[in-house]
Order: sequence, then C-alpha cells, then structure tokens
Amino acid sequence: MLKKAKIAVLVSGGGTNLQALIDAQNSGLIKSGEICLVLSSRGDAYALERAQKAGIDGKVVSKKELGTQEAFESLLLQYLNEYQIDLIVLAGFMSILSENFIKCYEKRILNVHPSLIPSFCGQGFYGLRVHQAALDYGVKVTGATVHFVNEIPDGGEIILQKAVDILEGDTPEILQKRVMEQAEWLLLPQATEMVSALLIEE
Ligand code: GAR
Repeated sequence: MLKKAKIAVLVSGGGTNLQALIDAQNSGLIKSGEICLVLSSRGDAYALERAQKAGIDGKVVSKKELGTQEAFESLLLQYLNEYQIDLIVLAGFMSILSENFIKCYEKRILNVHPSLIPSFCGQGFYGLRVHQAALDYGVKVTGATVHFVNEIPDGGEIILQKAVDILEGDTPEILQKRVMEQAEWLLLPQATEMVSALLIEE
C-alpha cells in the first residue's frame, strides 16, 4: 500500500488551478496525495514560479522545442517515471496527449475543463474560447467539470461538476474568473483527493 499518491501537475499558463492544489495540500484538504512534480509545456508559464515558491520541482517539456509528439511524450514519460508518479493532474495543460500516452496512465489522469461537459468541450475548446462560446450561445448557466482523461478530448468519465450562473454584462474574462472561483478551484482539489485516496487503497 502506498503512503501517499505521488502527483504530477501538468500546466501551460498562469497556474491558478495549480495554486488551488498547492493551497489544498497546505490546508490538509489533499492528504492522500503529494504534489511532487510540475511539468510545463511552456518555459514562460507563471505556474513554474508558483511551483518554485512552493518548493516543488518544475520542468519544461516543450513540444515546439522537441519537434514531434513522440519526443514530447517520451520526455514527459521520462520525468513521470523518474519521479514515480501515480496520478497526473492536467491543470490548464494546453497540449493534447496521444492514446498511447493515456494508456500508460489509465484512470490516473484528471483534467479540469471550464464548462459543464458535454457543452462547449472537445477539440478547440480551451481557456477563454470556452467562455466566449457559452456567451455566444446565450446559455444562462455554465460551470466546470473534472473528469478522467481518455482518448476522446474531454470525453472521459466525469468525476465532479459544478454549475455557475452567467450574469448580464459578462465578458469571457469576467465569466472565466467566476467559474474559476466558484467551481474549478474547489472541484479540482476535491477530485484530486478523492482519486488519490482510491489509489492508496489499491
Ligand atoms: C482553466 O480555466 C482551465 O479550466 C482551462 O484553462 C484555464 C487554466 O488556468 N483549461 C482548459 O480549457 C482545458 N481544456 P490556470 O493556468 O490559471 O489554471
């Protein structure tokens, strides 16, 4: 039996969801897992500074620099193996992972998506585009979803969802902030603890 699940958080940007995970670990909400590694697809991601401030190892794995999906995933796997990672959390990670990669961590990759799946999800729906699409459609309620990652983009089993109201005068930026505050930053730590607890029971 594992003492704590070893967690890697994969990021590409500001890393507010990473911060929510770090805070949840510090407050004891995440107790069955430990964030051991942060992998960023961009060298300039502020998430790397958040990792450094929290004393967590951070590495850059850039597909652009490595050239191919194979080289990109092979370096990701090298780090994940080196740190003996049990659970991968995608927290604003903007690269698609191949079926081969996902098979290596079946039911051990989580993703947070800023809408109520199956609305406004799949290829091309990421970041502010998701909120723009919700506003364009005119839905009155959106939210966030944490799900397991499978070979279908945003298509894996749903773990947690939370609805968030859309208000008069919302812009994609305003809506993104509300969805983060009211849903993502709560759901992602909660789901990470749930899955970590299951993994250490196995
Ligand atoms: C978050 O809103 C996350 O849900 C979204 O990107 C943002 C990253 O913010 N992810 C996707 O759209 C994935 N399809 P962060 O870097 O501040 O956590």
